[in-house]
Amino acid sequence: MKEKIKIGIVGSKFAADFHAFSYARTSGVEIAAVAAIDNLEPFAKKWNIPKTYADYKEMLAREDLDLVSVCAPNFLHHDIAVAAARAGKHVFCEKPLATTTADARDIIATCRTAGVKLFYGEDWCFAPPLKRMIEVIGEGGVGKVLYVKAKECHNGTHSPFAKKKETCGGGCLIHLAIHPIGWVLHLLGQSGNNKVVEVFGKCNGGLRDNYVHQENGGEDFALGVMKFANGEHALIEGNYITVGGMDDKVEVYGTEGNIKADLTFGSCLNVYSRPGYKYVIEKTDNTLGWTKPAVDEFLNLGYVDELAYAVDCVRRNEEPMYGCSGALGLACIEIISAMYQSHETGAVVRGKWG
Ligand SMILES: NC(=O)c1ccc[n+]([C@@H]2O[C@H](COP(=O)([O-])OP(=O)(O)OC[C@H]3O[C@@H](n4cnc5c(N)ncnc54)[C@H](O)[C@@H]3O)[C@@H](O)[C@H]2O)c1
Repeated sequence: MKEKIKIGIVGSKFAADFHAFSYARTSGVEIAAVAAIDNLEPFAKKWNIPKTYADYKEMLAREDLDLVSVCAPNFLHHDIAVAAARAGKHVFCEKPLATTTADARDIIATCRTAGVKLFYGEDWCFAPPLKRMIEVIGEGGVGKVLYVKAKECHNGTHSPFAKKKETCGGGCLIHLAIHPIGWVLHLLGQSGNNKVVEVFGKCNGGLRDNYVHQENGGEDFALGVMKFANGEHALIEGNYITVGGMDDKVEVYGTEGNIKADLTFGSCLNVYSRPGYKYVIEKTDNTLGWTKPAVDEFLNLGYVDELAYAVDCVRRNEEPMYGCSGALGLACIEIISAMYQSHETGAVVRGKWG
C-alpha cells in the first residue's frame, strides 16, 4: 500500500479549489503540481503547491503523479483524461465525463487499456444527507421507491466556458441536471439490472429563447423524465433562473413513506442580519435579513468524501463503486443526449442506459 498519494490538478479556479480543499483534508496526500491557463500563482500559493505548469501535457510528462484531478472546462475533459491515462496516471474527472457519448466511451476504453482507474465526480453520491437517505431507503423505511423528484438550480454559471454551448456541451441540462441524474442512477440502478428505458426532455433553446440568460448559447431551463425498467419514474430539474442561492433538493416517494432532503437550504443555522455578512451558500447574492448559512459546505455537498474515497481506492488498488465510476459518467451522458434528442423531436426516447 502506497503511503503518500501524489496529486496533479488541471484547473485553478472554482472546481480546482474544492478539489484542493478536499485533498488538504485527506491524510497521506500531497498536491504536487497544478496546470492551468490562468490563476496559477494565486492558486498554487493558496494551497501550497510547489510546481505550476501552463501546459497540462508538460505536467503529465514531467511529474511523478498517482492521480490527476480534471477540473478544466467540459470540452477538455476527454483530451486531458486520455492524456493522463496514457501517461499512466489514475484519473478523477469532474462532471460531465465528456461532452459526447463517443468521447466518454473513449475515456473509459483508454483508461482500461492503460490499466489506470477512472473516477467520475458525482459528489451527490457522497453528500452525507443523501448517503443517510439511501440508508433509510435500504432499511425499507419508505417501502418500495416509486418516484423521485430531484433538482439543482441557481441563478447562472460563473464560468465563461459553461456559458458557451461549444465548450459546455449544452446548457443547464448537462451542467446542473447531471447531478440529480447521476444520483438517481446511483440510487435505483446500483444492481445493474434496473436500466433507464425511457426518457423525455424539455428545455428552452438557448440565446434569445432563454428566459433570463440570453447571452448563453445553451438552455437556462431544463426538465427531464426518466423511467426505469422496474417502473420507477424520476423528474429531474436544472435551471439558471432560480435566484436566492443554489437550490439542491431531492424527494423520494415510496409505497410506505417519503423522504426529502434539502442540500443547500437545510443548514441548522438561522441568521438575521441587518448589515449582512460575507457568505451564505453558493450563488447567493444577498446576505441580508434571515439567511441559513452553509456549515462545512464542501463536506456537505460531498466533495471532501468523494476525493478521499478516490485516494483510498488508489491506495488500496480498488476499483470505484458505481456512484464514482466511469460507467455512471457514461450513463449520465447517454441519458442527457437522449433528453436533448427528446427535446428536439418532442418524442419520448427509448433505450437501455445505466
Ligand atoms: N461537481 C460540481 O459540483 C462542480 C462544480 C463546479 C464545476 N464543476 C466542473 O469542474 C470543471 C471546471 O469548472 P469551473 O467552474 O472550475 O470552471 P472555471 O471557468 O471557474 O475554471 C476553468 C479552469 O480551467 C482552466 N483551463 C481552461 N483551459 C485550460 C487548458 N487548456 N489547460 C488547462 N487548464 C485550463 C482555467 O485555467 C481555469 O482554472 C467543469 O467541468 C465543471 O463542470 C463541477
